[in-house]
Amino acid sequence: MYTCICNAITECELRKAARQHRAGGAETVYAKLGKRPNCGTCLEEAEDIIREEREALLEPAHAA
Ligand code: FES
Repeated sequence: MYTCICNAITECELRKAARQHRAGGAETVYAKLGKRPNCGTCLEEAEDIIREEREALLEPAHAA
């Protein structure tokens, strides 16, 4: 599913990029993907996704 229609950035791509680039907001992560916001409609959702991924990185690993 696309998070950013203008740039054809999928949610999966965005989550992966957020994990790889742990600083900055949506515009920074988009830039790391070689993109930049156009209409801006996606930015609020993108910020939520990025925050969610980074928070997950901080959670301790669950032992099996
Ligand atoms: S949907 Fe992302 S900039 Fe338009």
